[in-house]
Amino acid sequence: MSKSISIIGLGAMGTALAKTLIDAGDTATVWNRTSARADALVARGARRAATVAEAIAASDVLILCLTDYAAVETTLADVGTAIAGKTVVNLTNGRPHEVRAIAARLAGYGARYLDGGIMATPPMIGTPHAFVLYSGDRAAFGDAGEQLAAFGQSHYLGEDPVLAAVSDLALLSAMYGLFGGYLHATALAGSVGFTAKQFLPLVEPWLAAMMTALPDYAERIDSGDHSRDVMSNLSMQSVAITNIVAASRSLGIDPAFMEPIERLAKKRLAAGFGSDEASGQVRADDALQCAASKQQADGPRSKRRGPSACC
Ligand SMILES: NC(=O)c1ccc[n+]([C@@H]2O[C@H](COP(=O)([O-])OP(=O)(O)OC[C@H]3O[C@@H](n4cnc5c(N)ncnc54)[C@H](OP(=O)(O)O)[C@@H]3O)[C@@H](O)[C@H]2O)c1
Repeated sequence: MSKSISIIGLGAMGTALAKTLIDAGDTATVWNRTSARADALVARGARRAATVAEAIAASDVLILCLTDYAAVETTLADVGTAIAGKTVVNLTNGRPHEVRAIAARLAGYGARYLDGGIMATPPMIGTPHAFVLYSGDRAAFGDAGEQLAAFGQSHYLGEDPVLAAVSDLALLSAMYGLFGGYLHATALAGSVGFTAKQFLPLVEPWLAAMMTALPDYAERIDSGDHSRDVMSNLSMQSVAITNIVAASRSLGIDPAFMEPIERLAKKRLAAGFGSDEASGQVRADDALQCAASKQQADGPRSKRRGPSACC
């Protein structure tokens, strides 16, 4: 059965979401600050809303997909109680305090709020490779779940609206670390004559092989024990890390991506953990951790073991 849904924000991602809903047979109402970006969707069957208020009035489920939460706040500045009873699904990338602020404001107007993180690029939307994280109002997720499933696999993480946003940032951190490492590796290989394409048959299987270390790292992080059955101790690894930074400099390659990795390794070495695995290098700083717990602002606390400096 055709269901009504409004999409606010028609950039690369919002357009992909809207296309997928239209193709799934939903009645899509679309709004974008720059109205011309809606033209192709209207030609495909979408209804154009002239104002945000019109987009809100048109559907019970509203999807927001904008650059950032400043844009979300601007776009929803005047909505007031017109949004009461609606389900707002905000798929904009943001920070925990931003999520809490908009969730509280919309709840105050009587809306149901779901935050989300899209783990896909626009062409992946609607394919089995896409997945989307959601958290917030459980009943709203239950009611809108069928429509949202058109985007890809849905993962509902829980009632706290920040769960999806922080998990999104966590997954993106893993991606940016991987891509940054790949770019640095490709520049190093390029300095001795490999094109990026020639280097792929080496780097792809290497990264795939290294991924198999993640379950062991996860166990060490959760237990806080980085010293059992050590295979690749940090002292040994820090030699390679420092060699990468020094060699990059001598080859005229900016070591900016690797320098923080060297700094973290040296800090951990100086703290006496040279014979541990490298899995203990990134931890919430005690002072930051304490401040975060006191503010109660940024979602679930770390399950890190051991004493805290001040809490
Ligand atoms: N593209 C991806 O690969 C990807 C992947 C996963 C998640 N996402 C997330 O999806 C969201 C949108 O990304 P995108 O790729 O669609 O970005 P985009 O192509 O740059 O589009 C940005 C959208 O935000 C709107 N916008 C920006 N500032 C605004 C304001 N002050 N008031 C009203 N509208 C405003 C733009 O409207 P105008 O057209 O008027 O400028 C446009 O609709 C982001 O949070 C991003 O993290 C994107």
